[in-house]
Formats: sequence, structure tokens, C-alpha cells
Amino acid sequence: MTWKQIFTSSVGKKITMGVTGLFLISFLLIHMGVNACIFKDLSFFDANDNGDMFNRAADFMGKTVVIRLMEVVLFLGFFVHIIQGFMLEASNRSKRKIGYAVNLGDKGSKWYSRSMGLLGTILLLFLMLHWWHFWIPSRFTHAGLENEVILSNGRVSHDMFALMKATFSEWWVVIVYVVACISLAYHLLHGFQSAFRTLGLSNSRYISLINAIGVGYSIIVPLIFALMPISMKLGWVG
Ligand code: HEM
Repeated sequence: MTWKQIFTSSVGKKITMGVTGLFLISFLLIHMGVNACIFKDLSFFDANDNGDMFNRAADFMGKTVVIRLMEVVLFLGFFVHIIQGFMLEASNRSKRKIGYAVNLGDKGSKWYSRSMGLLGTILLLFLMLHWWHFWIPSRFTHAGLENEVILSNGRVSHDMFALMKATFSEWWVVIVYVVACISLAYHLLHGFQSAFRTLGLSNSRYISLINAIGVGYSIIVPLIFALMPISMKLGWVG
């Protein structure tokens, strides 16, 4: 398969969706792990942490050259996944226009498998808001990050924890984030096993194990993400 075919043929598009999808799935796990450091502040861990563990992790991620370079690859991954996703959705729609003799509904496939384009679009809109909230201030404008903190390792850093607290002080923001996390859960529920199937990594011996890991991942990761704005708004952390 040539490079051109990878990006233009329908098999090539499925493969790039699978590869970039698995890459984004691994990013989400790291992103969740770093952000979950805010839970150190829960009263039964260390109510006096005040975001130190999270700020240390964010400081490490923001100042390490290799990780900053990976950020470029990450954005490239998002870009290819989104563009190919839209193209795949458009070609599926034109095929559906020709129509099936019988509409199988939920018996043919689950509603979320048929709604990957819609779920992906909700996630894209969420990402634009999300980058506006955190990534742009952290990397470029420093809006809301004027105060610096001295971390327990002696380094001076932006107070990302305070920015998170301020961002999640509004209910509408919390609700938008929770809706995005629910969309993410359904997007992953189909995407995880679909990526493995497309790349031929789910042979019959491992298919039930891969499906089980996929379902577990699709529920646990978005749930932990959703608990972040909820915990901040309800004052469980911060
Ligand atoms: C719902 C809870 C979430 C919280 C509290 C959160 C928090 C953050 C923070 C603080 C940053 C800035 C990191 C920095 O610049 O130091 C960030 C960046 C980012 N977030 Fe999230 N995030 C959440 C969910 C998500 C989800 C569900 C996705 C993907 C679907 C996502 C994708 C990204 C991306 C791509 C970046 C920019 C790249 C990076 O800085 O690593 N986030 N997020």
C-alpha cells in the first residue's frame, strides 16, 4: 500500500483511524494519570496537599523537552484522526444513501457504533473549549496563571491547580465536561475494539480479553475524568 493509498483508500483510512486512535487512547491514559494527582488532595489522602502533587506533575510534563516534542506528534495524531474521521463519515453516509433493503436498527449494530461521527464532533467541540481553558493559558497567554507557587521540590511553577479550581467553579463548565466524558465513553466503547479489529490484532484467541479490556477502559477512564470537575465543584478537592 502506497502513502497515497493509506490516506485515500477506504482500507487505508480505516488503518490510519485505528493507528491514530490507539495512539490517542495511550495519550488519554497518561493525561488521566497526571490529572488524577489532584485526588491526592482528598481529605482521606492529604487534605493539605493543595494541588502540590498535580502541579509537580504538570510542571514536569510542561518543562521536559521530549514530552514537549511528543505534544507536536499528539496534535498531528488528533489532526489526522479528525480529518480521516470526517472523510470516513462522509463516505459512509453516501453509501447509506443508497440504502439497505431492511433497516436492522440495533440488531445490525449498536447506536454508538453508528454515531461515531456525531460523538467525535461533540469531542472536537469539547476539545476546542478545553484547550481554551487549559492548554492555551499554560503554553501561551498565562491568563489565570499570574500567581506562581513554590513546589515541594523547590521549583517555582504556574499554579495549574488554581486554574483548574477557577475553571470548574461554574456549573455549566462542569456539565459540559461531564457530557463530553459520556460521549468519550461511547466513542471509546466502539473505537477501542474497532481499532484492534482493523489492525488485525484481535485474533479469536484474544478477542474476548481485548473486548473486556476495551469495555473496562471505556468506562473507567472517562469516569475518572468526569470526577475531576465534579470533585472540584463540590469542594472534595481544592
Ligand atoms: C475532564 C477532565 C480533564 C481535565 C481536568 C483536563 C485537564 C487538562 C489540563 C490541566 C491541561 C493542560 C496541561 C498543561 O498544559 O500543563 C490539559 C491539556 C489537554 N487535554 Fe485535558 N483534561 C481533561 C480531559 C481531557 C479529555 C477527555 C481529553 C481528550 C479527549 C483531553 C485532551 C487534552 C489535550 C489534547 C491537551 C493538550 C495537550 C497537553 O497539554 O498534554 N483532556 N487538560
